[in-house]
Amino acid sequence: MISIIIPTYNERENLEELFERVSRALEDRDFEIIIVDDDSPDKTWEKAEILGKIYPVRVIRRTKEKGLSSAVIRGFEEVNGDIIVVMDADLQHPPEVIPKLIEAIEHGADISIASRYVKGGKVENWYWWRKLISKGAIMISRVALPRIINIKDPVSGFFALKREVIEEVELNPIGFKILLEILIKGRYSKIVEIPFTFGLRSSGESKLDNKQILNYLYHLYR
Ligand code: GDD
Ligand code: MN
Repeated sequence: MISIIIPTYNERENLEELFERVSRALEDRDFEIIIVDDDSPDKTWEKAEILGKIYPVRVIRRTKEKGLSSAVIRGFEEVNGDIIVVMDADLQHPPEVIPKLIEAIEHGADISIASRYVKGGKVENWYWWRKLISKGAIMISRVALPRIINIKDPVSGFFALKREVIEEVELNPIGFKILLEILIKGRYSKIVEIPFTFGLRSSGESKLDNKQILNYLYHLYR
């Protein structure tokens, strides 16, 4: 069983295509989708519940907590699968890559990362400053944290892992970069990076702002 955790905030318009493409990509497998929504004003949770009649979706609607990393950690508490996939809802993470992430795990990796920065991966249409922030963030993390020095995209939001990697590991819910937290604290020996193209947002807008950048630096420091 594969558990796919998808944190959402105002992603209502993206869900139908997302579920359709995930289901098609995983049609010969047993899977569940876990939506962790922070009580989105656009009622993403409601739309997810409606679509849950057609697709294997479970919806967790949080009304007290907020934040991307803490939403993913909440999802970890709900999984039934032995392999966990984490991805965004806005279709910047193409669902067609999921089988490759899962196969990497089945072939012995503990964590597989959909990577923008290995050969064959790329980012579509980013302004130069967004590229600079991304590359800068990665550079700082690799210098500061020897354990991840060989990982090209430690801040990707699209990855798969064996459940054991995070079982009984205490993850701190601060910030946007849950993968970084897992790479530092998780129990793993083998990591594989799979190239992919980080696409354009299908609908709605990004929640990555200056506050998240400061947050990131604090996260690294801690
Ligand atoms: N539950 C919840 N709570 N979900 C959230 C929150 C929150 O506070 N903030 C964002 N999300 C959800 C969004 O709805 C989306 O599904 C996903 O998390 C990523 O948010 P985006 O706003 O689309 O982020 P981005 O495209 O700028 O950043 C992405 O790229 C980074 C790499 O550059 C994310 O994938 C990051 O995880 C990734 O590191
Ligand atoms: Mn996005």
